[in-house]
Amino acid sequence: MSFYVTTPIYYVNAAPHLGHAYSTIGADILARHQRQRGEDVFFLTGTDEHGEPVALAAEREGVSPQELADRNAAHFRDLMPAIDATNDFFIRTSDAQHGAVVQEVLQRIYDNGYVYKGHYEGWYCPRCADFKSEAEIEDGNRCPIHHIELTREQEENWFFKLSAFQERLEQLYVDRPDFVLPAHRFNEASSFISGGLQDVSLSRAKFTWGVPVPWDPDHVFYVWFDALLNYYSGLTYGRDGEDLRDRFWPPAFHIIGKDILKFHCVFWPALLMAAGLELPRHIFVHGYLLMDGEKMSKSLGNVLDPIAVIDSFGSDALRFYCFRDVSFGQDGSVSTTQFEQRYESELANELGNLASRTTNMLVRYRDGAVPDVTLDATLVEAFDGLSDEVAELLSRAELTRALDAIWQRVRRLNGYVTETEPWQLAKDPARAGELDRALASLAEGLRVLAILLHPYVPKAVAKLQDALGDDELSFAAAGYGDRRLRAVNAIEPLFPRHTTT
Ligand code: MSP
Repeated sequence: MSFYVTTPIYYVNAAPHLGHAYSTIGADILARHQRQRGEDVFFLTGTDEHGEPVALAAEREGVSPQELADRNAAHFRDLMPAIDATNDFFIRTSDAQHGAVVQEVLQRIYDNGYVYKGHYEGWYCPRCADFKSEAEIEDGNRCPIHHIELTREQEENWFFKLSAFQERLEQLYVDRPDFVLPAHRFNEASSFISGGLQDVSLSRAKFTWGVPVPWDPDHVFYVWFDALLNYYSGLTYGRDGEDLRDRFWPPAFHIIGKDILKFHCVFWPALLMAAGLELPRHIFVHGYLLMDGEKMSKSLGNVLDPIAVIDSFGSDALRFYCFRDVSFGQDGSVSTTQFEQRYESELANELGNLASRTTNMLVRYRDGAVPDVTLDATLVEAFDGLSDEVAELLSRAELTRALDAIWQRVRRLNGYVTETEPWQLAKDPARAGELDRALASLAEGLRVLAILLHPYVPKAVAKLQDALGDDELSFAAAGYGDRRLRAVNAIEPLFPRHTTT
């Protein structure tokens, strides 16, 4: 089956921060997992370059919007290998090919009768590039996200008949209870719809940094419609000389943050219906990473620099921490202190030590040869059903719960080392059989953990597999006792102890 997964495309009016890395790593974990299951995967990320926020930022810096976009898109592009994201393409909405598809699809929606010219007046946030309803506005006419004062704006422009999709959207949410995940976000989207839909502005005439409206070139498309269509346009030119739409449309998962729920869970399906295109299978809405109780964002100045974290601790540590400390789907606080604690106690002590102890003991007591003996029944039982459970959780993008299930087995293996005390067994030749069984059972546990942990900590898993003398990553081989390791080598510490300077 095909598995097409996307991230939001990021605004180029600011530099990448941990929030952007978070969504991207989340999508990457799903992409890697599905590849392990033998699925045909396409993973798209990129940058959202048009619209007023970018035009305003460029003006402030005294450069053209394209120059600003080129400079900042490069930072986002560079973020991808730094966080080990395996995206198949990096889309930029200033790409000419993207613009052409936006025009083609929106022209179709116009031809289908879902667009009209109208007048709009409301409270507008230039940072969100969005009008706010009276219910959303904070005291003092402020944006609930950016806390800046909203401006009263009037517009004569083109409108998309969102209201015409009221019933079809309601029906969608009845028919497909897993369209939006997790459930509390489904409920949020669904009650937004049942609250009654108003038509939305489709174009702006105030500025020119955008995709021109083909039937009225004095207007450019409202940035959100331009941006949403990246998910579709990306398949038309994301791989040289190929049109991937037949193979990958519709998307399996859009991964997004809760700030853009309305656009993805309400506008986007309506837009696709208006264009006669199939809807995505799932939209997973994650929460905010918070520092000091506020959403991390460049404009609030409270960012944790992912590159600085990676420079000191490596990309695996960041990938692990993001999904371990904060449950994917919920909001949660992050901090450097918690990060360092998790690194030491879980990555270095629990996983790192387990790998070192197991391989070292095999080298010391058995010259690295993994004994070919029956595995310990208690561990067989502890791992029973694990890979199915992980696959099931990841098919709903439950990244934290899946990692939790895996980590319980990391702890179980450490507990097993403590219980069996292989170093005591090694002192008594009469207990050689018990030692064989303990060592082989631990090695097999590590082999399975390597496969399951690959999407989360791919660099560490590559090192671990190297020491285990096995490079099988296929999910089908993740059953405990499915394969047999032959010879292992001692391993360098997977997560070196860290002294902060
Ligand atoms: N350009 C739009 C998205 C268009 S998608 C068709 C946009 N860009 S953004 O640069 O503001 O990125 C927003 C996304 O970044 C959020 O939806 C979320 O996925 C991620 N995050 C940004 N800050 C975040 C946190 N503090 N915490 C978690 N994720 C955050 O909106």
